[in-house]
Amino acid sequence: MTTLITNIKELLQVRETDHKLITGKDMKRLPTIKNAYLLIDHDTIVDYGEMKDLRGIETDNTIDATGKLVLPTWCDSHTHIVFAGNREQEFVDRINGLSYEDIANRGGGILNSAEKLQNTSEDDLYLQSAKRLKEVIKLGTGAIEIKSGYGLTVEAELKMLRVIKRLKKDFPVKIKATLLGAHAIPKEYKNNKEAFVNLVIDELIPQVGKLQLANYIDVFCEKGYFDLNDTELILKAASNYNLIPKIHVNQFNAFGGVGLGVKYNALSVDHLEELNDDDIQALKGSHTIPVALPSCSYFLSIPYTPARKIIDAGLPLALATDYNPGSTPSGNMNFVISTACIKMKMTPEEAINAATINGAYAMGISNMYGSITKGKKANIMITKEVPSYNYLPYAFGDNHIDQVLINGNIQ
Ligand code: NIG
Ligand code: FE
Repeated sequence: MTTLITNIKELLQVRETDHKLITGKDMKRLPTIKNAYLLIDHDTIVDYGEMKDLRGIETDNTIDATGKLVLPTWCDSHTHIVFAGNREQEFVDRINGLSYEDIANRGGGILNSAEKLQNTSEDDLYLQSAKRLKEVIKLGTGAIEIKSGYGLTVEAELKMLRVIKRLKKDFPVKIKATLLGAHAIPKEYKNNKEAFVNLVIDELIPQVGKLQLANYIDVFCEKGYFDLNDTELILKAASNYNLIPKIHVNQFNAFGGVGLGVKYNALSVDHLEELNDDDIQALKGSHTIPVALPSCSYFLSIPYTPARKIIDAGLPLALATDYNPGSTPSGNMNFVISTACIKMKMTPEEAINAATINGAYAMGISNMYGSITKGKKANIMITKEVPSYNYLPYAFGDNHIDQVLINGNIQ
């Protein structure tokens, strides 16, 4: 099966050689071809170029993209889309004056979601999650990381991870699974956090490791949740099962989580709404990519990750949604990109790089996803007719996507 897309107004994120990660000043450059074609064979990008160089070829399918842009699908490297129900009441409570912290302290927040999830059957959890996944694919997401973390018991965490495994089997998008065993301290362990950390280390990690249900290990490293010592113990235990760290750090407080992540060769450190100079220094020369989650800042009215400080220090940056019921009930990467431009002063080029190739890096898949490169997977989207790519983040709130192709197939 071959598909030829013709008359593309501009083909974005074209990378001849396989760049794995775009850093610093290079993030301002988005390589494109105007008036282009793109050729797909089965699930793979096999050719592209200017229309004037297109020689007559026979294809099974032709899509005319006159006036439209074509780009790789979004790579959303941080989500919690497997969850039960919602937390709309807490949303109203916050409008009425309670803080995210107040809500967590009175047993709401993550504990609220965990209770709901524990009382939801695996099939129902799958159906709720599959519905969300279908929706984000329509919004242009073609690769996604999904975390556990709303289980808070060994059994419920395994249930979440089995749901992720089923999503992997049933959906054509690329999915990576992360074990977030230490997401909050369950009620029963309120005065005995150490025992819960031991449960994660002695039971949860080995079971998940043996069943190979996760690619990555995550910890919510934050005051009132898990400290540096807890985090280090968990990362060490996970390394025995080759679970690479991708950790929640610096959402509300900066106290060395970034440096710890780098020390353990984390693939990514995520959130970073609070970021100090030591954190920036720790990231320099490392393989760890910082990930910003602007929809979370928007929804919780907390600071935005200082993207300019990060990029101007020569570092890379990825953008992701953080789709979850508590801090970010949205999986829309288009909104993330607009918000990054509007609130974090990222240029459209930087935001698109951060949401495609750098997002792919943050999931360890940039060899096959995140750019228009021969040999990479044909996960691409075709926009509606728009004046230029600047228009995508500029006209925020509009849906600019016309068609999404995953593995070469129209969704
Ligand atoms: O990434 N910060 C920790 N975890 C999630 C939110 C969890 C929740 O409130 O349900 C996040 O923002
Ligand atoms: Fe998160």
